[in-house]
Amino acid sequence: MGMQEKIDELLKKRVEARLGGGEKRIDVQHEKGKMTARERVELLLDDGSFEEFDMFVSHRTIGFGLEKQQYLSDGVVTGYGTIDGRLVYVFSQDFTVFGGSLSEMFAKKIVKVMEKALKIGAPIIGINDSGGARIQEGVKSLGGYADIFQQNIMASGVVPQISAIFGPCAGGAVYSPALTDFTIMSKGTSYMFVTGPKVVKTVTGETVTTEELGGAQVHATKSGVTHFVSEDEAEGLLLIRKLLSYLPQNNMEDPPQKVCNDPIDRLDDVLNSIIPESASKPYDIKDVIFSIVDNNEFLEVQRQYAPNIVVGFATFNGSSVGIVANQPNYLAGVLDINASRKAARFVRFCDAFNIPIVTLVDVPGFLPGTTQEYGGIIIHGAKLLFAYGEATVPKITIILRKAYGGAYDVMSSKHLRGDINYSWPGAEIAVMGAKGAVEVLYSKEMNALETPEERAKFSSEKEEEYKEKFANPYVAAKYGYIDDVIEPRNTRFRIIRALQMLATKKDVNPPKKHSNLPL
Ligand code: HXC
Repeated sequence: MGMQEKIDELLKKRVEARLGGGEKRIDVQHEKGKMTARERVELLLDDGSFEEFDMFVSHRTIGFGLEKQQYLSDGVVTGYGTIDGRLVYVFSQDFTVFGGSLSEMFAKKIVKVMEKALKIGAPIIGINDSGGARIQEGVKSLGGYADIFQQNIMASGVVPQISAIFGPCAGGAVYSPALTDFTIMSKGTSYMFVTGPKVVKTVTGETVTTEELGGAQVHATKSGVTHFVSEDEAEGLLLIRKLLSYLPQNNMEDPPQKVCNDPIDRLDDVLNSIIPESASKPYDIKDVIFSIVDNNEFLEVQRQYAPNIVVGFATFNGSSVGIVANQPNYLAGVLDINASRKAARFVRFCDAFNIPIVTLVDVPGFLPGTTQEYGGIIIHGAKLLFAYGEATVPKITIILRKAYGGAYDVMSSKHLRGDINYSWPGAEIAVMGAKGAVEVLYSKEMNALETPEERAKFSSEKEEEYKEKFANPYVAAKYGYIDDVIEPRNTRFRIIRALQMLATKKDVNPPKKHSNLPL
């Protein structure tokens, strides 16, 4: 064979590999409103940047007639490319080949790109669309899954890992995305569950649809398994590009610096009057976030899960930060189990990847009640406390209004190595709210009074007295727990200055194998 024939053979093989499971199956994929594995990679990466590995890999299993069914690439497309010019590694499961089911060789291809990502220090993006373990391969497939899990664990906290779910992801297959940092599900075409509706029916008798059991909306609102939901796959892929723009390539680098044309000293007078007169009236914390960050741009993470706490990424003067903020608009911004878990995981991600944390506090405390106590609010609340206390990245905290009780300590207080702790002038920093405090302190005196009018008058006088004494920022400021009381409209500038000052911050934790986070 001459060289030209050899080149022709290569090109023919490439065409064959790019066809995956064949045109018919590609048509079926498109009919379902889904892209093929390669179309997804093309859309995700910068134009023309994709370099593919292992196109000529195929399985080596005999039995069930498999020896006669060979597809180049074996059901997963792997390689590297760039996003906004920055290197990323990618794998994309191909549903047109054996339903994207995972074989021994399929797993080896994924492990190969994950090892490279770890060695070179670049993010890894996995696109999932698979019927699970390749049934004909048995334990080789199960082993393959675990090999991937092990790589996920090794890469955790070293390079960002992002999972997109654009089809089925069931059984043990769900655990690779669960081990990664962020998961994105597309509406209507993706689902994740440990056991499907049929098994659920057999074991528990419960009748449930695929969508109800593990669709995007369920995981966005009820389980918190997914961090983002996209209208379609294209939007999901764009979201991954956006998310990466806030993140460093690995844990040894700082996040990328963006160009900022939003004035750093921009004042917003609206903030001076955003807090309602009445302490129990809500307002939207997102109005504050949008006002202070660059160009009103905020990428919210887990938007629909535990909305009483808001977390997400933004930039200040072009530098990435993670924002954690209590949301008075939902359950008065109380800390409960889900909010604590959500924020704790976010704080730990930011800390692992050198992203400073800005915390906006307006919290009435932890949610009382048996549901919370039986659910282990003690342990889950401790996660957030632990995450803040362990974090060594720059930590800037602003108390906007309420910071009561244990929640004052937890929300990135000075005592948990908060670097800069400011408050707005109306802040109430105390063991509890005035009403509760008066009830505890003066119950005997109250009971001695004869009429309800007398009791109301006494209680309101005592509440005023308490507020004046404790529910203001100056007691905390007197002890240096608050570094300064700032004018609300000036918040953006004060945060930017603090971030600049903290840019070279170094802090260390004692040497240890790892901490024992209250899981
Ligand atoms: C081998 C598979 C497969 C699998 C699908 N296919 N799943 N081949 N192993 N796990 C093949 C089908 O035979 C079919 O081949 C093609 O993929 C498309 O499948 P369809 O059923 O035609 O597609 P659809 O109707 O869209 O249904 C998709 C599906 C269904 C819901 C995913 O295929 C399904 O239920 N598959 C089995 C899922 C499963 O139980 N997996 C094991 C889970 S346990 P042809 O040649 O006709 O195109 C598990 C353990 C992991 O994964 C443990 C990790 C620790």
